Amino acid sequence: LQHLLTTEGLPVRILRDILDKASGFVNLADGREIKKIPLLHGKSVFNIFFENSTRTRTTFEIAAKRLSADVVNLNIGSSSTSKGETLLDTVDNLCAMHADMFVVRHSTSGAAHLIARHVAPEIHVINAGDGRHAHPTQALLDMYTIRHYKKEFHNLRVAIVGDVLHSRVARSQIHALTTLGVPEVRVVAPKTLLPSHVEKLGVQVYHDMAQGLKDVDVVMMLRLQNERMQGALLPSAQEYFKYYGLTQERLALAKSDAIVMHPGPMNRGVEIDSSVADGMQSVILPQVTFGIAVRMAVMSTLAGNK
Ligand code: CP
Repeated sequence: LQHLLTTEGLPVRILRDILDKASGFVNLADGREIKKIPLLHGKSVFNIFFENSTRTRTTFEIAAKRLSADVVNLNIGSSSTSKGETLLDTVDNLCAMHADMFVVRHSTSGAAHLIARHVAPEIHVINAGDGRHAHPTQALLDMYTIRHYKKEFHNLRVAIVGDVLHSRVARSQIHALTTLGVPEVRVVAPKTLLPSHVEKLGVQVYHDMAQGLKDVDVVMMLRLQNERMQGALLPSAQEYFKYYGLTQERLALAKSDAIVMHPGPMNRGVEIDSSVADGMQSVILPQVTFGIAVRMAVMSTLAGNK
């Protein structure tokens, strides 16, 4: 694998390899006993985030450091992009500083693909979220989390709830879940927050929370992506919560051992009630922790390490 740009079309063998490799990194990822292993020693990883991030940027930094890479976090706010330098000129200059790997977040769908086509063949690009298109490492850490708690994929019913239309996370999750053989993937949302023909992605469509959550094993919540809804009629937070907020009462419709996931950042009281977010079935913080091992697995896979 040269670049990781999307989970769409990613062979099941590669998906499973990354999850298995991440299992081997979980104990290393916490850094309590062994701080570093030398798989990326001498390599430079450049985090270039043109959109804000807490989880993805930080866990990539931790993961790269655990693998002994040198990590550079480009501060876009104080970079020369504000003087009109283009994305590719910026990348060319970072390549001149001997970048080996780029971790890229951008508000434009396709930005990471553009960079991947532009750079020399020995350089690797990881998409850390592009517009509403894809967020493959989020989907991979979500798959890791599901496998950790549920062991298998082939017997699961999974509901993805909320703003699927504007969500790069949802797209990447759907491709990963269907590739890994989850037999029933549901999307639960108002019509206005679903892409047209979403069922062509292999999902079942629900507009009612009670029906959509009935007997599911996994509930994956999504944030309203207000920043990507230019000009759209936004639902009010109260209105949205009334119909699509995950409350204890609604969660009780899922299986009693269902897990609750959220990629973050959460908007409490909008898509999820605090009692659920902090409740016994929530695995939202373990998702973040697993993200370190999964990102170690992705970077070492791209670098060709067994
Ligand atoms: N899930 C996710 O992408 O979170 P951040 O925006 O904090 O990176």
